[in-house]
Amino acid sequence: MSGSNRISRRDFVKVTTGTIGGIITAAIGAPAIGYLISPALSAGAKEAWVPIGQKLEDIPLNVPTPFSFTRTQVNGWERTSTSFGGFVIRKSADPKDILILSSRCTHLGCTVNWHPEANEFICPCHDAKFSKEGVVLDGPPPKPLNQYTEFKVDNDGNLLIFVKEG
Ligand code: FES
Repeated sequence: MSGSNRISRRDFVKVTTGTIGGIITAAIGAPAIGYLISPALSAGAKEAWVPIGQKLEDIPLNVPTPFSFTRTQVNGWERTSTSFGGFVIRKSADPKDILILSSRCTHLGCTVNWHPEANEFICPCHDAKFSKEGVVLDGPPPKPLNQYTEFKVDNDGNLLIFVKEG
């Protein structure tokens, strides 16, 4: 037998040291890399079910009932908070017969208010008027109020809406 196939003691030490070094690097490096990229990964998590803070049974029928909430998104090392608001209109006792409108005016984004005496939503910025269903009645908005079309009621009766933006 020649000695060429046999590993020398020095090579064995080199290989063993290199292997152990690699394992240590992986053990330390993986969590560190995960820590570094996790904020970037979480930036994509924009869709979520959000409780609006009201139970369905507490919302009166045919009365636009306001709600609001704030979402915080982490984008890298930057945190951005966005406020959302809208109105829930229960059109009947059927838990699925609900219209949920955004309160953000489709003109330039001001917040519309419900005026029961006029039976209209009115935007204070440029006096736009929307019907109870969110249809533009007057003013510059190019389209109706946006709707939250996906909603559900949890086991405790809380109304949740599906939000697709930050
Ligand atoms: S922002 Fe609402 S009418 Fe202009």
